[in-house]
Amino acid sequence: MEKRTELYRGKAKSVYTTDDPDRLILLFRNDTSAFDGKKIEQLERKGKVNNRFNAFIMQKLQESGIPTQFDKLLSDTECLVKKLDMIPVECVVRNYAAGSLVRRLGVEEGTELTPPTFELFLKDDAKGDPFINESHVVTFGWATTEQMQRMRELTLKVNDILRQLFDDAGLQLVDFKLEFGLFKGEITLGDEFSPDGSRLWDKVTGKKMDKDRFRQGLGDVIEAYEEVAQRLGVPLS
Ligand code: C5P
Repeated sequence: MEKRTELYRGKAKSVYTTDDPDRLILLFRNDTSAFDGKKIEQLERKGKVNNRFNAFIMQKLQESGIPTQFDKLLSDTECLVKKLDMIPVECVVRNYAAGSLVRRLGVEEGTELTPPTFELFLKDDAKGDPFINESHVVTFGWATTEQMQRMRELTLKVNDILRQLFDDAGLQLVDFKLEFGLFKGEITLGDEFSPDGSRLWDKVTGKKMDKDRFRQGLGDVIEAYEEVAQRLGVPLS
């Protein structure tokens, strides 16, 4: 597989074309950003941990019947993925209240949400990723009604699978964000799953083991990511 030109450079990953028009390479960088890119740092080993973490999770999801873009690991920081036509919508599931839900509704952090909530945000940095709903997605043509239903169904299924997986590792899956795209017309899970885009709390101590350590200046960010990976059995070398 030949790596060609940089197609897109995001805040933490770069996407490259390959000699196969249906395949892209994702490069996980050490760049870590928060607050719409206002706080940016390089965190040693983050690219590697997140690449391997994502590969592990995507393979688990694929085994459970979730269509994902993941193809294979290529190196410590790179993986090969299917090329999707991305839908510019972020699907967020919450099992416990945290982050923007707490700010928006004044619910106490840590409150269990039953059933889990499903929220949508428009992926648009210039607009600050606004909160949207399913009718906006259809009306503005970001996805059809059927595609939106499928994204919701898959997101909730991913939650069922991962909640159990993290629970077995002594972790609470508090919330997470997924992005989808179309591959040959089929809604397919894209982007990544890592502690950058999810909240993970130790079941016993409540310790935050995700990007909130970076957002809130708690320190030992990558050490926490590595501990989560180790508890799940993600091979880091
Ligand atoms: O900030 P908020 O509480 O809405 O985030 C919910 C979940 O979605 C968190 O796990 C957060 O890390 C993730 N998220 C993300 N990318 C964004 C917004 C939220 O990964 N642009």
